[in-house]
Amino acid sequence: MALLSSFRSHARAAVIGASGGIGRAFVELLAADANVRSVSVFSRSCLNWDSEKVNWHSIDVTDESSVAVAAEWASRDSLLDLVIVATGILHREDQILPERSLREIDPRAMAEVLTINAIGPVMVAKHFLPALSKDNKSVLAVLSARVGSISDNRLGGWMSYRMSKAALNMSVRTLAIEQARLNPASVVLALHPGTVDTALSKPFTERVDSSRLFSPAVSAGKLLKVIDDSSPDCSGGLYAYDGSRIEF
Ligand SMILES: NC(=O)c1ccc[n+]([C@@H]2O[C@H](COP(=O)([O-])OP(=O)(O)OC[C@H]3O[C@@H](n4cnc5c(N)ncnc54)[C@H](OP(=O)(O)O)[C@@H]3O)[C@@H](O)[C@H]2O)c1
Repeated sequence: MALLSSFRSHARAAVIGASGGIGRAFVELLAADANVRSVSVFSRSCLNWDSEKVNWHSIDVTDESSVAVAAEWASRDSLLDLVIVATGILHREDQILPERSLREIDPRAMAEVLTINAIGPVMVAKHFLPALSKDNKSVLAVLSARVGSISDNRLGGWMSYRMSKAALNMSVRTLAIEQARLNPASVVLALHPGTVDTALSKPFTERVDSSRLFSPAVSAGKLLKVIDDSSPDCSGGLYAYDGSRIEF
């Protein structure tokens, strides 16, 4: 089954954050799609894949020169059709934890979450958007989160993560406007993957009903359908795994 049927045939895709739970699932699905010619995959650590379509290159989204080199490598033979940014952080050992109250705010941890979750994808956009096709449908999709919606925030908490995703959502709207001037067939999307069983969500899923906890493959499959169904009208919006629009 072709997952990217609305793209030109033999589409070229890139996945940033391919070592992550959802990122890896994207790569596996794209590599198995007959309509996909190549998948350039990026992560900090070296990865190997069985498929000849898949090629790895290093990236650290907090280091602009590494992002620039990665984008140049990705478009060395031909322009890309789809770029997915699946990087992100919610917690790290004891140093970064989602805050339950204002008392727990640590400015250094907050700055790091903002750097990885909000500035990192903008650096990717800065260097990878020029590597996207200008004559056909092209999509830059970044993984955001429903908790980045300001209007949806009724629970509070997780201030750094929420702020980083709200900032990311604003960058997506801004990028969509700029990109539409260069390619009217371009789409820039923020995506909410649902609650997905990965290292990022692991400490917080104990009480999540199993019917609401997606495997990475299920989430990535649903998100690829949202990407394939997307049109320029959708550009600049935040969409959930089921295609519904989430208000900012
Ligand atoms: N899982 C969920 O329930 C859920 C829900 C809503 C939104 N999301 C969003 O979905 C995205 C993917 O999450 P996930 O669940 O797949 O998490 P994950 O398994 O922890 O993967 C996170 C990925 O981000 C990469 N990363 C972190 N910092 C990086 C940096 N400086 N440069 C390059 N790569 C970096 C990690 O690379 P390393 O392997 O090198 O650390 C890893 O590949 C995130 O943006 C997350 O906020 C997830």
